[in-house]
Amino acid sequence: MAFLSNHCLVLLSLFILITPLTFSQTPSIYDILKENGLPGGLLPKDVIKSYTLSQNGVLEVLLVRPCFTKFDTNALYETVVRANLTYGRLVGLEGLSQEELFLWFPVKDIIVDDPKSGLIVINIGLAHKQLSWSLFENPPDCKSDFLSKF
Ligand SMILES: *[C@@H]1O[C@H](CO)[C@@H](O)[C@H](O)[C@H]1NC(C)=O
Repeated sequence: MAFLSNHCLVLLSLFILITPLTFSQTPSIYDILKENGLPGGLLPKDVIKSYTLSQNGVLEVLLVRPCFTKFDTNALYETVVRANLTYGRLVGLEGLSQEELFLWFPVKDIIVDDPKSGLIVINIGLAHKQLSWSLFENPPDCKSDFLSKF
């Protein structure tokens, strides 16, 4: 009997210790993207400082430093990335550019029209690129410049 109640006490104190931690956690920016039908890998890992999502859908993500990364081509996240978020869409993006044929273009919209297609549409103004969803599955690593190889 004494053994049992000790056991319960341990469980109870574990529960008390763990509960506030799990319940006070806000969703990560990657969770927010996924809840909105977008792949989590649209934003890089290890550099997200904070984000805000206002009621009218304006998403603002702060990075601790600029992030150079690569999807199909080189990409650059500035320290403030902003967009209007609706289901399957980031429109009016600011703070993300992609390199095409040695020129840099700001990415304007990222759209998933049909999740079943496995495609994601990147609008860089001059062109719409259809890329595979799998390129954006996992948040990519950042480099502080392009001198180091991926
Ligand atoms: C983004 O949302 C804001 C606030 O709702 C709006 O004023 C702005 O026109 C929107 N931008 C785009 C590109 O949809």
